[in-house]
Amino acid sequence: MIITIDGPAGAGKSTTAKGLAQRLGFEFLDTGSMYRAVAWAALSRGLKLQDEVGVGAVATGMMLEWRGTQLFCNDTDVTTDIRQPEVSAGASVVAANPEVRKAMVRLQREAAMGRNIVTEGRDQGSVVFPDAECKFYLTADPTKRAERRLRELEERGHPSTLDRVLAEIYDRDHRDKTRAISPLVKATDAIEVDTSGYSQGEVVDRLEEIAREVLKVR
Ligand code: C5P
Repeated sequence: MIITIDGPAGAGKSTTAKGLAQRLGFEFLDTGSMYRAVAWAALSRGLKLQDEVGVGAVATGMMLEWRGTQLFCNDTDVTTDIRQPEVSAGASVVAANPEVRKAMVRLQREAAMGRNIVTEGRDQGSVVFPDAECKFYLTADPTKRAERRLRELEERGHPSTLDRVLAEIYDRDHRDKTRAISPLVKATDAIEVDTSGYSQGEVVDRLEEIAREVLKVR
């Protein structure tokens, strides 16, 4: 069974997906970290992120492996490095590269095969798993999203300012929504949930209630 959660940066997808997966006893896939790993691998090879052929080859040959909560890219633990601001911005650049998307979509479908999984990203319900049993689209107003991101960055030891994070979020949303291939859109059959003003726990409660009803998971 597949549950997809898509939406813009900072809408609370990761924490919600993790919480929902735990409540339902499903696995959890954070597909944003895969695009981040591609950007990280390209930057660490000194490639320009706009180099479509070079970055496409990096993605196609990339080994990604989750060991518990840690993500390894070609045997290097990249869990912390992929959260750096330049990798966040770079991820949305490489995510517009068709070869990168082809490679990541293949890995995502392989990862989900035969499993009960909650997968989150931008295109999970619209493109990667069009037949998913239950689809969500999370939104929140931009300031709330920026506040959330700012808190995350601070917790990870990368302090910033609200204005800067808000500008980065607008930039990333614009790139994600206007790219030619698999832009961020709400799948027509996705249930939209606005998370502004709700705690993480309340959002997970709401999604769990809907998912159990739709999937009849007891
Ligand atoms: O969700 P997260 O902020 O980690 O995603 C980083 C970037 O990866 C996004 O801004 C987006 O450009 C890209 N992405 C994507 N498709 C996905 C997941 C993430 O294009 N399914």
